Amino acid sequence: MKIIEVYKRLDLEITKGKGCFVWDKSGTQYLDMFGGHAVISVGHTHPHYVSEVSRQLNLLGFYSNSVRISIQEQIADKLGKISGKENYNLFLCNSGAEANENALKLASYQNGRKKVVAFTGSFHGRTSLTAAATNISAIAAPVNETTHVIFLPHNDLNALEATFSEMGNEISSVIIEGIQGVSGIHISQNEFLQKIRRLCDQYGAYLIADAIQCGYGRTGSFFSHDYSGINADIYTLAKGMGNGFPVAGLMINPLFKSEYGSLGTTFGGNPLACSAALAVLNIIEEERLIENANLIGNYLLKELRKFNNLKEVRGRGLMIGIETVDEFENIRTALINKHHIITGEAKPNVIRLLPPLNFTYDHADLFLTALEKELA
Ligand SMILES: Cc1ncc(COP(=O)(O)O)c(C=O)c1O
Repeated sequence: MKIIEVYKRLDLEITKGKGCFVWDKSGTQYLDMFGGHAVISVGHTHPHYVSEVSRQLNLLGFYSNSVRISIQEQIADKLGKISGKENYNLFLCNSGAEANENALKLASYQNGRKKVVAFTGSFHGRTSLTAAATNISAIAAPVNETTHVIFLPHNDLNALEATFSEMGNEISSVIIEGIQGVSGIHISQNEFLQKIRRLCDQYGAYLIADAIQCGYGRTGSFFSHDYSGINADIYTLAKGMGNGFPVAGLMINPLFKSEYGSLGTTFGGNPLACSAALAVLNIIEEERLIENANLIGNYLLKELRKFNNLKEVRGRGLMIGIETVDEFENIRTALINKHHIITGEAKPNVIRLLPPLNFTYDHADLFLTALEKELA
């Protein structure tokens, strides 16, 4: 049997990681500014993370939600404190798409409506409704096609207003990333998020904040949506939450009723996954990683904006998009092959930076020097 070819992969096999660095199988060291698609939040093989996950594995790897799992409550407590949303309820699952699918479903259960508003450039996942709410046609198969999802232009206040005045009473939810990641780091403007909040309140729709890539402290605030000063009805979490262990979640406003059978999962919230998630929260708190993401992110943004041969530099904290003038592919390849720095990408010409949150000034300088050489 062969592995199905659904990814264009880098010609690189990573076999070891420590902090912000990884090594390939021939022993070459790379600075990791991609974290495997924004997943590595507290750094590779962090000692506290490794010891907590190993300890749990030696005690009990798995039991399902048929029994009480008190480590889930510890996560809920800590997550409430760190995110500042202590009165929300938590549902634990396994992946970002699953979190969004459940969020859309929960909103529809609650208000009995069917329409979902999503935006151009959005990415919400590859399950049925999340694929339909993702603005990339290749992701949705014919079976995912639905008339329930309405795409509006991102950050267009008039289109939003017009759609709500036309069919606001049919809209179940609005789903939006605080910063669109896959489409190339595009910030959802504060006024736009505030307007969504107001319209949702006015028409009885729910605001779902997809914080899967832009959340968990990456932007220097726990949620990038927080920059607008609004509260969402549901926040969806994944990626950085488990630092590589598949863990995801929904933080749900207490106004939502919970009914047995409405949400469920076999693997979600299992003890091993929870040990990873709790270790991540401990490290984020202990090492003040949200503050660090803010400091180092601002430094990177400031320095990058001094380059006069870039088209645009966008982002917040450690979620940065560098739009190059021409095709960037050769810059990204040169960064990997010549400078041993791994970055992400967004087509056609954006370099995506999503490093671990314990990235330092020295790491940032390594990258800035390498980029300067390549742009020269
Ligand atoms: C904003 C956003 N939402 C949802 C997802 C889907 O997450 P997963 O791949 O864990 O299903 C992603 C993944 O890249 C994402 O970036």
